Amino acid sequence: MFDIIVATDQNNGIGKDNSMPWQLKSDLKYFFKMTTQVSNPAYQNAIIMGRNTYNSLPVKPLSKRLNIVLSRQDMDLTNGELAFNSFDEALNYVEKLDYIENTWVIGGGVLYATAVQHQKLRYVYHTKIMADFNCDTFFPDLSNFVKNDLVNSEILEENNLRFQYTKYSLNLSPKLTLAK
Ligand SMILES: NC(=O)c1ccc[n+]([C@@H]2O[C@H](COP(=O)([O-])OP(=O)(O)OC[C@H]3O[C@@H](n4cnc5c(N)ncnc54)[C@H](OP(=O)(O)O)[C@@H]3O)[C@@H](O)[C@H]2O)c1
Repeated sequence: MFDIIVATDQNNGIGKDNSMPWQLKSDLKYFFKMTTQVSNPAYQNAIIMGRNTYNSLPVKPLSKRLNIVLSRQDMDLTNGELAFNSFDEALNYVEKLDYIENTWVIGGGVLYATAVQHQKLRYVYHTKIMADFNCDTFFPDLSNFVKNDLVNSEILEENNLRFQYTKYSLNLSPKLTLAK
C-alpha cells in the first residue's frame, strides 16, 4: 500500500518551470511531518518520486526517509537514494523491506498520473490552495473516480494564501471499471 501527498492550486496545478510556484511554510512542515512520522522509531518511511521532482529538490536526498527515484534512464545517485525504472518494481522492492512503515508518492505530475490509478493506493493527502499560480504541471483530473472524502480541515491562511488540508480515497468509477 502507499499514500499520495500533493499540494495543488485551484486549477489542480502543482508546479511551474520544474519548481513549486508557492511558498507555504505550514504546508512544508505538514509534508515533513506526514512523510517522516512513524509509530516505531526503528522504522522509516519511503518516498517515491519522478526524476523531475528529484532534480527540483533544493536539498537531496530528503532527510529521514528512504528516497526512491523513478526514471527509465540511468541515474547517478550517490547519497543512499535508490533508482528504479518502474513504479511497480519500486513498490515491490519497498514491500520487502522490514524497516519501512509507510510509502509515500510525492510527485510530480507524471508519477501522480500512474499512482492515482494504482490498486495499491490507500489515501490521497491533498492540500488545496485557493489561488491560481499559472502552473505548467498538473495533478491528474479525478472526474473518472469516485472520491470518498475522509478529512477536510478548516480553511487556513498564510501569507494571504488560503488553503485546506484534505484526505480522501479514490476508486475508479463503476462505469469505467465495468468497461475495462
Ligand atoms: N505541488 C506538489 O505537491 C508537487 C509535488 C512534487 C512535484 N511537484 C512539481 O511537479 C513538477 C515535476 O513533475 P513532472 O510531471 O514534470 O515530473 P515527475 O513526475 O517528477 O518526473 C517525471 C519523470 O520521472 C520518471 N518517471 C515518472 N513515472 C515513472 C514510472 N512510472 N516509471 C518510470 N519512470 C517514471 C520519468 O523519467 P525519465 O524521463 O528519466 O524516464 C519521467 O519523465 C515540478 O514543477 C515540481 O516542482 C509539485
